[in-house]
Amino acid sequence: MTTRIYIFDTTLRDGEQSPGASLNVAEKVEIARQLERLGVDIIEAGFPISSPGDFQAVQEVCKVVRNATVCGLTRAVTKDIDAAAEALKGAAHARIHTGLGVSDSHLQYKLKMTREQAMERGVEAVKYARRFVDDVEYFLEDSGRADPEYLCRVIEAVIKAGATVINIPDTTGYMTPGEYGDRIRYVMEHVPNIGQAVVSVHCHDDLGLAVANSLAGVMNGARQVECTVNGIGERAGNTSLEEVVMAMKVRNDVFATETGIVTEEIYKTSRMVSSMTGLLVQPNKAIVGANAFAHSSGIHQDGVLKERSTYEIIDPRSVGILESKIILTARSGRHGVRHRLQELGYSFTEDQFEKVYERFLELADKKKTVYDEDLEALVAEATSAVRQTYELLHVQAVAGDHNIPTATVQLRKSDGQILVDSAHGTGPVDAVYRAVNRIVNVENNLIEFSIQAVTEGIDALAEVTIRIQQGNDVYNGRSANSDIIVASAKAYLQALNKLLDRVTPSAHTSTLAHV
Ligand code: KIV
Ligand code: ZN
Repeated sequence: MTTRIYIFDTTLRDGEQSPGASLNVAEKVEIARQLERLGVDIIEAGFPISSPGDFQAVQEVCKVVRNATVCGLTRAVTKDIDAAAEALKGAAHARIHTGLGVSDSHLQYKLKMTREQAMERGVEAVKYARRFVDDVEYFLEDSGRADPEYLCRVIEAVIKAGATVINIPDTTGYMTPGEYGDRIRYVMEHVPNIGQAVVSVHCHDDLGLAVANSLAGVMNGARQVECTVNGIGERAGNTSLEEVVMAMKVRNDVFATETGIVTEEIYKTSRMVSSMTGLLVQPNKAIVGANAFAHSSGIHQDGVLKERSTYEIIDPRSVGILESKIILTARSGRHGVRHRLQELGYSFTEDQFEKVYERFLELADKKKTVYDEDLEALVAEATSAVRQTYELLHVQAVAGDHNIPTATVQLRKSDGQILVDSAHGTGPVDAVYRAVNRIVNVENNLIEFSIQAVTEGIDALAEVTIRIQQGNDVYNGRSANSDIIVASAKAYLQALNKLLDRVTPSAHTSTLAHV
């Protein structure tokens, strides 16, 4: 008999807490749509009290998600719960996720409360949240380092108060699989009313054990796994959705579980999250890394050619990595390009398709062959959900060992103005960025610049990822082009446009004025 495990995706909340991964509202909505296609059961869309942007993101996600439950995080305080309840109003299925620290370290140093006070606060929070929704999840922060006996007492009390899901996080990523599994079992055996709630695991990856710990939790009675796409999240990140789901699927003989995940959507979701957050996926990452299915040693290649199963335990197609790489050229035509995009899982409005097709023709003109990876990069850019305050019309740069690197850029502002300026710098990219700065004129620091080839070969698209910082806020930008100067300029403008969207938000973001 198989046990159904609920997949609770927190990419938009814990995942977005990754340094520099901030997403705007439109990007969160796009990711939520994809998470629904992926088949997750619960989408934690944000922490509504934390910022007007988060509040609005939760509201907007509620409008587009119909099957999954949409969840909002709160502290165990009424004003947080009010904000979450308000943001979740439009959800087809809503959940409030509230809670409080439970370890002595959190009680003593962070909350400055006694155990009894904290328990009382938790009970009150659950009762208050139940006034708004039937589905209330309670997190016991830092459960991994809490006294097990006290942990069980709090769980019993909050279930009695109406909690329907109990989240037992290893907040600091300190536990080992044996210990975490034992802790879940201890809760299952020592909380008399535990049968009235779903037990959830939420593990952090500080010791690289988040997936193993989550699986140990499942083996010991947990029925919900909290995870993020590509494992992004606070510090070293969270349990990786694709790894935990595929481990349960491939080793069903061990776990005897099933999830609602459409695994063929995994790769696409991973690419989307990486592109929008600017957090690159390491090449050797399990399931979705570029090398996850690449066999390089002669012995392995020989084995795989004779019989795949000699070295391959997962069929790449089962996670949406298409085997046949169709190569498109300038002669492929609209129909061919549209057909391949559909095979890759994209659906577009006519306008979006025309933008992608226009970019495809430009690229196919410069490059003889256009690969799937090139198409994905074009799609990410043509369908970008960033408000374009500035758009690049033209960039030229001069560099070389006997020249002073100099650049000229021409930008169009959203009000129609065409602006041109030039600058010199330490290299061509620096010169371009200085020229852009002379026009846009917003203070920021470039804190990361990376460049990688999307495919192989000298004519490959270059994908530039950058991060800029203003105060404590970090914004990312990404762009792919066959010319690295153009990709660099566009990536910078994307990050600046995100920054400007935050600094001068559109009218929508004032929703939270009342909390
Ligand atoms: O890691 C953690 O404890 C959390 C809680 C807020 C659920 O993210
Ligand atoms: Zn967490």
